[in-house]
Parts: sequence; C-alpha cells; structure tokens
Amino acid sequence: MRQSAPPQTFRVKSFGCQMNVYDGERMAELLADKGLRAAPEGEEADLVVLNTCHIREKAAEKVYSDIGRLVKAGNEAGRKPMIAVAGCVAQAEGEEIMARAPDVGLVVGPQAYHRLPEMIERVAKGERAADTDMPADAKFAALPKRRRAGPSAFLTIQEGCDKFCTYCVVPYTRGAEISRPFSDLLREAEILVEAGAREITLLGQNVNAWSEGEIGFDALIKAIARLPDLQRIRYTTSHPNDVTDGLIRAHAEEPKLMPFLHLPVQSGSDRVLKAMNRSHDADGYLRLLDRFRAARPDIALSGDFIVGFPGETEAEFEETLRLVDAVGYAQAFSFKYSPRPGTPAATMDGQVPREVMDERLQRLQAALNRDQLAFNEASVGKRCTVLVERKGKKPGQWLGKSPWLQSVFFEGEATIGDLVEVELAEAGPNSMAGRLLETIAA
Ligand code: 5AD
Ligand code: SF4
Repeated sequence: MRQSAPPQTFRVKSFGCQMNVYDGERMAELLADKGLRAAPEGEEADLVVLNTCHIREKAAEKVYSDIGRLVKAGNEAGRKPMIAVAGCVAQAEGEEIMARAPDVGLVVGPQAYHRLPEMIERVAKGERAADTDMPADAKFAALPKRRRAGPSAFLTIQEGCDKFCTYCVVPYTRGAEISRPFSDLLREAEILVEAGAREITLLGQNVNAWSEGEIGFDALIKAIARLPDLQRIRYTTSHPNDVTDGLIRAHAEEPKLMPFLHLPVQSGSDRVLKAMNRSHDADGYLRLLDRFRAARPDIALSGDFIVGFPGETEAEFEETLRLVDAVGYAQAFSFKYSPRPGTPAATMDGQVPREVMDERLQRLQAALNRDQLAFNEASVGKRCTVLVERKGKKPGQWLGKSPWLQSVFFEGEATIGDLVEVELAEAGPNSMAGRLLETIAA
C-alpha cells in the first residue's frame, strides 16, 4: 500500500442489529475525538468504515460489492478512500478479506475497535492492519465519553452468547457472554441522560443474561430507572432461558420499564427447537409469555422466527403458524434459514429447498402482518405517552414511539425529546396516527 495523507473525514456505515448501531456510534465518537469530521451526507469521506453483519445471507458477498462500489466511486472522483471493514464479517473472515480485497486498509473486529485510531495511522503510513482480538473488557474503558444522544439511546450492557444455537454464528463472532460492570453502566446511562436521552434501550445478544455477582438484570433496570430525567427503559434481545422471576416482576413494579418484550422463539415445533439446540420447547415458551402477561397485561410481544431449518417438514412449519396464532404478536421478525459456515446446522441433512422456504416465509409473514395490524387496531382509542423522536414528513407533524413500540404520527406543538400524551386515533399496518392531548415532560 502507498503512503497516503491521514484521513480528515469519515463515514461509518452500520448493517445488521442494534448492537452494531451502538458500536457504529461509539466508533464515530472515537474518530471525532481524534479530530476527524463526519463527512456530510452526499459527500465522499476520506475514511469509510463498513460495520458489517454476518448473521444471515451472503453477508460477505455484500461487503465485497460495497468495497467495489467505494473503489469505483473513488476512481471516478480521482481519489482513494481508506476502507475499513469492522463488525462480525471482519471477525469471521478478516484474513480472507485482506487477501481478497487489496483496497481494504484495515480489518477490525467488534471487540477491538477502540484501537481504530492507531490502525488508521499505520494504514496512512502505507501498512495494512488487522485486529480481531476477542476479549471485550479493554474496549469500553478505552472509548471516549459519550457526548451527544438523541431522545432514544442505545446502551450495550452485555455481549456475546454461550447458547450455541446450531444455526447461529454469534457465539463465534461475538464470543462468550460477558457483562459490563454495573458501575460503568450506571455512569454511561447518567451521561446519556445528561446528553439528552429520555429513553434508554439496554442491548445485548442475551441482554437478560446480564449479571454482576448477586446483582441481576432486574436490579440493573431498577437502578437505571432511578435517574430522574430518564422517562423510559427498554431492553433487547432476551433469551427464554435467562428470564427470571425478578425480570417478570420488574414489568409489574417499574413504571419506566416499557410494556414490550422481544423474546425470540424461532420455531413452534419441539423437534425443530431441539435440533436448533434452543433448550426450550413451544409450551414452555407460551407459559413464560403467560407469566409476563400476568405481570403486565398490556405487554406487547415480539419474536424472531426461522423458516426452513434443515429437516423442517410442512407439519412442523404448521406448528410454528399455530404458535403465532396462540401468541398474537404485536410485531415480529422472520427469516429464511441461511446456512452459516462453521455452524452445526450448515452440514445437517435435509436442507430445505429455496422455493419451499420462500413459500413458508410468505405464509408466516402474512400471519404476522395480520396480527400486527390487529394489535394496532386494538390500540385505537387508547391514551398513551409518545416520546418524540423526529419530525414527520408533513409540516407540523411529529413522529415518536408509543410504550408498545408502535410508531405514532401526530400534529401540533411539540419538539424532539418531549414526552407527550396522545390518543391513538387510527391504525395502519406499520404505524398509528395520534391526537395530541398534552405535553408531560419537555
Ligand atoms: N439463518 C436465518 N436466521 C438466523 N438468525 C440467526 N441465525 C440465522 C440463520 N443462520 C435469526 C434468528 C435470530 C435473529 C437475530 O436472526 O431468528 O434470533
Ligand atoms: Fe445466536 Fe442462539 Fe445465541 Fe441468539 S441465543 S445469539 S440465536 S446462539
């Protein structure tokens, strides 16, 4: 690689889950702290960080095509951006990327991005740099303090996964479960609130596996809820096995904890769940949801589903449809099974043909969309709070979230960060129209 001027401007492009969004924000803060400027929208940046996702599809292929596009745009403009590949593809396929894509200057894994500035310096000197070290403890301590936050902010409290579901790459790309220290999290939450956050979503691959000695996840939620200017707390993603009585009780006891639960189930068939190594069955999952509903009757439920896991029969798929009917999800994510290199399921017998997966996914999504609309329709007439997150498309229109994570549009006097009371007036498949009643907290 040639020597090049150190980059002055940067852009971080995050793909995939909310934890990547959080990491992308922290990378941007780190680069800004070192004197780089975020490139304005529509302008080429000197440094582009592709913060990648490896969970499904041909994620690596997407990275190579993004790299190709950046190089082409650079050539046309007579410049050569520094390209960094971060995130889970970097972790899983770092060496291969370095070998296949000579235009990539550096590769950095999700647990090593605090070292970006030194790596960038090396690349500017004409070297190439790769760092996919795993231990997460060093990263958070090395990152700069958070400075700005929107009304709704993310806070990663836990990383990694020890569950080893047979289809999933996360235990390999994000490593073993680790919990960030309680005192660091309280401090970061406090700083986020000082910086403008009114809602904090606690993040983790298995967020409810968070613990520190005797302190459980529910105690962390309650401690953060004590911050006076914080109005709302959410968390995602939970694992059925890590649900405690305390967490269920927190939904009854802690008014700032929003009535929403994202609890992936993946399948409604016990045989498939076993082959997935999910360590819960369909009935156990349903009983768990009943307990959440007993604690918080209006709780909105969300889940993740995979169709076409190796060996899934039509009858087993129909069990998933039956589970969906039994739950009545407020929203959900559903995916076609995608074989991930290195995972046990990738080499299992009975890989399901693409057309079958397509057809099952369509049927599942039709059921989930029907339930989402039904949930929204059942909300019409309710009064609830909305945290205003941004302006709507029409003048005088605002957009925020209801306690049940529905997007709500309304018109009237408000500003970003306000907590207002609205009456939900009309239901659409993906959003609600609300009528502004009053401002609760500005
Ligand atoms: N194929 C399809 N979906 C997957 N997920 C994880 N791994 C795979 C895979 N190999 C889905 C699961 C998980 C969500 C984050 O992504 O539903 O809960
Ligand atoms: Fe992947 Fe299963 Fe861990 Fe979720 S619980 S991250 S699906 S291995």
